[in-house]
Amino acid sequence: MIISFASSKGGVGKSTTCAAIASELALQGSRVLLIDLDQNKTLERWARKAPLDGLTVVAIESKAFGEFYRKQAMSGEFDHICIDLPGTRETTMFKVLARSDLVVIPAQASEPDLREALVVVSDIRDVREETGRPIPYRLLLTKVFPLRSRVTDFAYEELERHGLPLFRTALVERSAYKEMFLNGQPPTLTEREKGAGAEVRALLAEITAIVATDADELRKAG
Ligand SMILES: Nc1ncnc2c1ncn2[C@@H]1O[C@H](COP(=O)(O)OP(=O)(O)O)[C@@H](O)[C@H]1O
Ligand SMILES: [Mg+2]
Repeated sequence: MIISFASSKGGVGKSTTCAAIASELALQGSRVLLIDLDQNKTLERWARKAPLDGLTVVAIESKAFGEFYRKQAMSGEFDHICIDLPGTRETTMFKVLARSDLVVIPAQASEPDLREALVVVSDIRDVREETGRPIPYRLLLTKVFPLRSRVTDFAYEELERHGLPLFRTALVERSAYKEMFLNGQPPTLTEREKGAGAEVRALLAEITAIVATDADELRKAG
């Protein structure tokens, strides 16, 4: 499957979530390619600290995406491709959206984050119309407080009001996600059974189910 992580806002947890999902897929035995499109190359540097069997992380320039993607997708070398997008809206973002089996839109439970998420959603709808391809997407609440607060309640109400689909799993504010960039460890190894490990596996299960359902519906329709 091809999963992209998109938001026009920086610091919402795109790279963290992308790395967590890609490394967990590799830990479960898949061959995973992570394409880092952020010019800061955060994830390429992360992967160099503690390389993981089954996970290949490549940072590429925006303009090289089309050709690189074609070659990799055709090669059959990988089971899954995870794409970390930069926080900018440019042509490459649209190319990535058009090729995604699922777009994960991380956002914090705040008004500006939710507004930015709506921008991505409207971009996805544009790409859907242009390509005629259903592109499923879900909002993912990140860095949430462990306890539900007035802020999270507000976020859930807003999401419902806009009819935005949301992952049931949210990523809690945890040191395992921060430590990842210091020690290179996947957060699901730092906390295997509970905490980050448990919630990333729950998120991955949701992702897999959405992609499978979608493929199923396409087959029925087609
Ligand atoms: N669930 C989380 N818990 C704690 N810190 C987080 C979490 N998600 C992201 N962070 C931290 O927030 C910062 C921004 O995250 P990052 O994934 O780089 O965002 P983006 O790629 O959207 O710019 C990083 O310092 C990261 O360690
Ligand atoms: Mg990033």
